[in-house]
Amino acid sequence: MTGDRPSWAPTSIDLDRPNAARVYDYLLGGAANFEQDREFAEQLLQMMPQARAAARLNRAFLRRAVRFCVSAGIQQFLDIGSGIPTAGNVHEIAPDARVLYVDNEPVAVTHSELLLADNPLASAMLGDLTNPDPILASPVIDFSQPVALLMVAVLHFIPDSAGPREAVARYVSALPPGSFVVLSHGAEAPTIKGTEQVDRLYERSASPGVRRTPEEIKAFFAGLELVEPGLVWTPEWRPDSPDEVGDHPETSLVMAGVARKP
Ligand SMILES: C[S@@+](CC[C@H](N)C(=O)[O-])C[C@H]1O[C@@H](n2cnc3c(N)ncnc32)[C@H](O)[C@@H]1O
Repeated sequence: MTGDRPSWAPTSIDLDRPNAARVYDYLLGGAANFEQDREFAEQLLQMMPQARAAARLNRAFLRRAVRFCVSAGIQQFLDIGSGIPTAGNVHEIAPDARVLYVDNEPVAVTHSELLLADNPLASAMLGDLTNPDPILASPVIDFSQPVALLMVAVLHFIPDSAGPREAVARYVSALPPGSFVVLSHGAEAPTIKGTEQVDRLYERSASPGVRRTPEEIKAFFAGLELVEPGLVWTPEWRPDSPDEVGDHPETSLVMAGVARKP
């Protein structure tokens, strides 16, 4: 596989195992993915054909949530698990804001750095959500001013044993009042078929997943005030038009919410 390594692919990455960032990139129609990622995504789509639409709906939630934060006066975004840049990146929706993208996948960080080379307000760093200190130490974000902390479609890649709750609590404690937390997370939906098969598929990847119940997801917002409409399926969160929601919003597979730090 290393013979297929394009010039933009850092030598540190494991090209032989599918990775969440690159599978998601493929689902969204991007080009920063490898054969293993594409094969994995195609298997995923066979088991769960709505996965591609779910990725798009998640991304659309991210865009609406960033617009909401901008309208609430937020001028700094810390986007953890930011992924490979694709349509509707935070710095495009909030061009006047400071943005720090953080991901633990080197391909995502390399692509972000290339995209942001001439951008004085936005930057990217390699970091792990479960290791907050180096991220909180970045000079890009000024924690004396309100911040929007984005953890969109990332916490479901972090098992309880890796301490996602403790990490989120640490970030939240660093945020000044008036900050926002924007979060989406793969959720249990009894009506959706194929989830067990998909769980087994992900176990073989470099990014095994963990779906959580709505109550478990809500617990990530501890100490914060969820803004209306609370924790809902992604298309239900402040849709641009009612037609976007559809009759079965749970087929979006992902629940989302935005909360304010009082
Ligand atoms: C499904 S993508 C979501 C990308 C983007 N946030 C969005 O919603 O469009 C999940 C991203 O989380 C990253 N990720 C997974 N575990 C992580 C961790 N422990 N720390 C930082 N990033 C992580 C993956 O590399 C991937 O880029």
